[in-house]
Amino acid sequence: MTILVTGGAGYIGAHTTVQLIEQNHDVVIIDNLSHSTIEPLRRIEAITGEMPRFYQGNVQDRQLLQLIFQRHNIEAVIHFAGSKSVGESVADPLAYYHNNIASTLVLCQTMSRFNVFNLVFSSSAAVYGNNASVPVLENMPTQATSPYGRTKLMIEQILEDLHATDSRWSIARLRYFNPIGAHYSGLIGEDPQGLPSNLVPYLSQVAMGSLEQLAVFGDDYDTPDGTGIRDFIHVVDLADAHQKSLHFIAGHPGLHTFNLGTGRGHSVLEMIAAFELASGKTIPYTIHPRREGDIGKSWACAELAKAKLGWQAKRTLQQMLQDAWRWQLQNPEGYEQPLLNQPIPLRMAS
Ligand SMILES: NC(=O)c1ccc[n+]([C@@H]2O[C@H](COP(=O)([O-])OP(=O)(O)OC[C@H]3O[C@@H](n4cnc5c(N)ncnc54)[C@H](O)[C@@H]3O)[C@@H](O)[C@H]2O)c1
Repeated sequence: MTILVTGGAGYIGAHTTVQLIEQNHDVVIIDNLSHSTIEPLRRIEAITGEMPRFYQGNVQDRQLLQLIFQRHNIEAVIHFAGSKSVGESVADPLAYYHNNIASTLVLCQTMSRFNVFNLVFSSSAAVYGNNASVPVLENMPTQATSPYGRTKLMIEQILEDLHATDSRWSIARLRYFNPIGAHYSGLIGEDPQGLPSNLVPYLSQVAMGSLEQLAVFGDDYDTPDGTGIRDFIHVVDLADAHQKSLHFIAGHPGLHTFNLGTGRGHSVLEMIAAFELASGKTIPYTIHPRREGDIGKSWACAELAKAKLGWQAKRTLQQMLQDAWRWQLQNPEGYEQPLLNQPIPLRMAS
């Protein structure tokens, strides 16, 4: 199958592209490199032996998208491209509404024009806001609490409307919980620009000594140790779910929504202890008051994805953190340090 991957140079997009290539799919990437560089593409080639076809540009660039659809026999799209920081979205909501929503509109219009109706969309557990009880089920009420979360909800609604008016659309809306970890080779991973806003990149930088300590926000939640609990999922397991979703929507036209998580939560203090074990480093931390808008506990019920997609997260927390740490050790400057003579490990037998 020929698959267009928007945002394929990003964290989850690069891991998914590796798997798609390994499954003999043809991958075409469009990415404007606003939150990445060309380097992950070289790393994808180092892992798979194949350089995906790449267009540097904005998904909102209708002419470029049309050119891509004219040149390649695109059969399905995985739409990762978007802005993803909750904090940034609060500071500059218009930029978030514009980038995330306009990109999706232009993409869907172009797909429709070229009779491509199979779409996998990156949504987020952020659509549940702070109302949901745990474990979170797909049919629980949604109520995003940030402009970022609202862009995901709005896009989910747009896709619902699209499907309601044209039943040729077959769409999977994938609600990710907390993706962490990296490819086992240590060649691709999460490369935050500036101060990390996610827990594991932050822990990695504290362990490296480039950040002094971790700030833990809130130790008075209704959880066993008082700190917040989240459902962390290995990015490679997440990538696998995309592949299975593509297969599923090809055989089951409709609008589908799946939680992607492990179904287990870990508290911040548990994460610190597990990261210390994985890295052999001590993580200094300080406790601060709760942050506004944060919730105490969130983990997925991922039974629907198991039943329909035949997908289940396989990797343990220890694997997630070992892989994240290997990525950090091999790439202390992230992708800024180009691949030179790093040994390429053999492919892991699955
Ligand atoms: N990583 C997470 O914690 C998480 C959780 C839930 C949902 N998501 C969603 O998953 C998707 C991928 O996340 P990620 O972590 O890989 O993010 P990322 O920032 O690493 O990757 C996104 C990629 O999209 C590109 N991009 C952004 N806007 C673009 C545009 N208009 N045109 C072309 N390219 C554009 C960026 O350059 C980047 O390479 C995003 O939609 C994000 O909202 C991520």
